[in-house]
Amino acid sequence: MDVMLTGPFAGEIELSAAAFNGKLSARMQVNLGIIGGGTVGGGVYDALQRNGALFNSRLGATIQVRRVAVRDLKKKRGSTIPKALLTTDWREVVFDPEVHLIAELIGGTTTAREIILAALKLGKPVVTANKALLSAHGEELFAAAQKYGTNLYYEASVCGGIPIIKALREGFVGNRINALYGIVNGTCNYILTRMKLEGADFGAVLADAQKLGYAETPPDLDIDGHDAAHKTGILASLAHGFWINPKQVHVEGIRHISALDIKFAGELGYTIKLLGTVKKLDDSCRVQVSVYPTLVPNSHVLASVNGVFNAVFVRGDIVGDALFYGRGAGKDATASSVLSDLGDAVLDLKTGTKNRLPAFVPHECDGAVAPISEVVSQYFVRLNVTDKPGVLAMIATIFGASNIGISSVIQPEGHAGASVPLIFMLHNATNGTAANALKQIAKLPAVKGQPVMIRVENFE
Ligand code: NAP
Ligand code: HSE
Repeated sequence: MDVMLTGPFAGEIELSAAAFNGKLSARMQVNLGIIGGGTVGGGVYDALQRNGALFNSRLGATIQVRRVAVRDLKKKRGSTIPKALLTTDWREVVFDPEVHLIAELIGGTTTAREIILAALKLGKPVVTANKALLSAHGEELFAAAQKYGTNLYYEASVCGGIPIIKALREGFVGNRINALYGIVNGTCNYILTRMKLEGADFGAVLADAQKLGYAETPPDLDIDGHDAAHKTGILASLAHGFWINPKQVHVEGIRHISALDIKFAGELGYTIKLLGTVKKLDDSCRVQVSVYPTLVPNSHVLASVNGVFNAVFVRGDIVGDALFYGRGAGKDATASSVLSDLGDAVLDLKTGTKNRLPAFVPHECDGAVAPISEVVSQYFVRLNVTDKPGVLAMIATIFGASNIGISSVIQPEGHAGASVPLIFMLHNATNGTAANALKQIAKLPAVKGQPVMIRVENFE
């Protein structure tokens, strides 16, 4: 793969990779260049100030922050980064011959891509927390790392402080991952938790998540499910050995989840979570990879993962079920994962093992993501109907004709002729069949507004 670089230092790159690799082997001090001094970049700087001595003694090397690139030198920062380290030109950091290791912590998919490719081309290892970029351009970046004899590390890209990338790549290297379910977006989990426990308003809680540094810019990436889809795609790729294009991930966010849905789900013994689901469907390497609000039984451990916490439930064919839990977003949790990657990068530099574990190793077989219409689920359906004789029978007839079984119905007591909620719990059906039945139901004159359909997961 050819790496295109632009900018004033582009010409210098060609000679530098070999020179850089030769120079470094003699040193035990690794100089770090951080691009981005916001929530995560500032968190990494502060964590290194706090635990640098411990970190260095564990690694048997010294890591030193040499420069930090930001956009605005005048901005007030919630971190201890000294002004003297700051520059507004990332090239001054990446092309500094005394910088050995780069942390890309700006986000976005344009400049971040350019920065990472420039550093890799120089033979400099890169640590990133940028799941949007990996999701869209992972294969290109991995190929560049391979080509220039260096590596790309991305533990912080999924689930903040939880070392789930290491767990899948190393801890479960001997397992087939038959299923993986993840609460992988801290912002959405924070919003859904506060809506459920405090009856809080969606917009107000989102504003709090932004103030706490959990949300992406813009936060639509979180609430429309795209951030969770980027992360779920990365986990699915590692579990199944083929890099998953984000366009193949079926995504639904939490914008349409109402207080009524949370209330009725609760009455039925469930909690609504935005869940990333990765499920092996059959022996032909077809995999479900999706993100959607899901009713989780209150008896399941994922139902009690609250606030900004994330959790990933992994079902391996040898290990059985395993659970990973921790803070999914925020300054310190994310810094912890960046430090984990910095540790790996330093050790790889120190011992000359930069390709010990390449960023991504395709394996197993040519997998494929199954279309959502073919995926089988159970469903919670909430309708708003006119309370009059025969309505329930008409709706039940449509479900029956579609071969969809009803497992329970709730209709709170209403007044004849008034609008009332009508809740159905449905047995297994393909998403295509369920969507079709709901389309017919929505056309009935007694059904007001669009039906709400939320999938139910029983983790069987
Ligand atoms: P942030 O608080 O908005 O910080 C972004 C930083 O990048 C800022 O310091 C900004 O400079 C700097 N920056 C932006 N464009 C730049 C450019 N062209 N050149 C130099 N500096 C530039 O974002 P964040 O929350 O730290 O997120 C960073 C990355 O980590 C993203 O990929 C995000 O998805 C990922 N991540 C975030 C979290 C989290 O909890 N926040 C968790 C996991 C992963 P100024 O400060 O001057 O504006
Ligand atoms: N916006 C992301 C979240 C940050 O809320 O989970 C962590 O990746």
